[in-house]
Amino acid sequence: MKIAVVGCGYVGLVTGVVLADLGNEVVCVDSHQEKLDKLRKGIPTIYEPGLEELLQRTLADGCLRISDSIEDATLQSEIVFIAVGTPASEDGTPDLSAVQEVAEEIGRAIVRKAAPEPSPPAPSPYPSASLGIGGGGADRHTVVVNKSTVPVGSGDLVESILRQQGAPPEAFDVVSNPEFLREGSAIHDSLRPDRIIIGARRREAANKLVELYAPLERPMHITDPNSAELIKYASNAFLATKISYINAIGRICELAGADVGDVAKGVGADQRIGHQFLQAGLGWGGSCFPKDVQGLVSTAEKLGYDFRLLREAAAINDAQTERFVERLEQSLGGFGGKRIGVLGLAFKPNTDDIREAKSLAILRAILDRGGSVAAYDPVASPHVEKLFPDVCYVDSPYDAAAGADALVLVTEWNEFKQIDLARIAAAMRGRLLFDGRRVYSRQLAERAGLEYHTIGS
Ligand code: UDX
Repeated sequence: MKIAVVGCGYVGLVTGVVLADLGNEVVCVDSHQEKLDKLRKGIPTIYEPGLEELLQRTLADGCLRISDSIEDATLQSEIVFIAVGTPASEDGTPDLSAVQEVAEEIGRAIVRKAAPEPSPPAPSPYPSASLGIGGGGADRHTVVVNKSTVPVGSGDLVESILRQQGAPPEAFDVVSNPEFLREGSAIHDSLRPDRIIIGARRREAANKLVELYAPLERPMHITDPNSAELIKYASNAFLATKISYINAIGRICELAGADVGDVAKGVGADQRIGHQFLQAGLGWGGSCFPKDVQGLVSTAEKLGYDFRLLREAAAINDAQTERFVERLEQSLGGFGGKRIGVLGLAFKPNTDDIREAKSLAILRAILDRGGSVAAYDPVASPHVEKLFPDVCYVDSPYDAAAGADALVLVTEWNEFKQIDLARIAAAMRGRLLFDGRRVYSRQLAERAGLEYHTIGS
């Protein structure tokens, strides 16, 4: 199939590359020249395992093209994905301005595409006369697919924008197809999603996506666009709530002398609950959970429902980091003049994304209160350096520990699990190990001569 993907961010780039790898003709569109230059050379603009290889392969075999023209991409594609960012605006509602701008351009291109051929007809790339999908004019019909995470009703908004631009209703369909990929395992998640959600008003439009995704052989759920949009928010908010729930249980464990790791193991063994997303720690960050939880709270509010459960899940999440920092400060007797080693800066392992990373709040608190920091992350340091130029960025966990009064683990990269704790203890000035992700065992840490503090036990 001929596909356009507008927006080369996380979702857009991974979607484009994966669809190209499946043998479709894909054009990925973005407006940032620097990004386009890199992508054309086969250099991914984000760190994601497996992406570079796939990008280079699909560019080399001609299945993937990189472009700056939404119009050209729309003219030559039967399906156009909108995968631009929808960052949270100040009141918590997602900012849809990028979606709106892109929809306007797509709308203008659809008008051109749907216009009757001038006569005598030049050799035309769109030979059919009718515009309808499934009819002879499928080449001139466009399925516009919203992949960006957008509030309920955004499909209707895109549809109204396309119409405002003059696009004839029979020339397009708007479909919601939310993306569930996780950073760090994005390629795998795109190829093996648990489910594919397709929200369409017309069955023929849904079928177009069913056909596109058929090679993946994964379950597909067809529903209306509003339900599809809500499925994305409801899923992310549920998972975030699950993490906040286990973190609240962790707090009780601390007070009761229990261990949240063991509790989570027992709780998760109930198949109705499951083991995933029961890892207690500093809480959730990243580009999705904080934004989507807030987005659902504000959507509910607009509709007249106070989603207190979700507001509390967010409050529990914020408190996780605040309490951790307070405990650290207390153990050190204040941050003034103290050196803190920080292990991990990315919001989670296997990504260089630092959006809503717990490290940022922790660094801010330590520096504001007079401490100094030596930080190590396998890939995310350059991003954090732009925000915190005063932090000393080092090349190994042992360098972060050197001369430190306390060592704090913020992101559970695999390489931290293998660390030699005795070597860490020998390098440090103090004894405090604060484990924000429950990576180490108390026994091993104490055997290495460290004073172990963690969350949930
Ligand atoms: C999430 C959703 O999982 C994905 O389906 C959606 O498309 C985008 O948002 P992502 O943000 O990439 O993906 O990361 P995820 O692995 O879900 O982790 C989110 C946050 O929760 C991270 O900060 C992580 O550290 C935290 N987390 C996760 C926990 O604290 N405990 C857990 O048990 C799991």
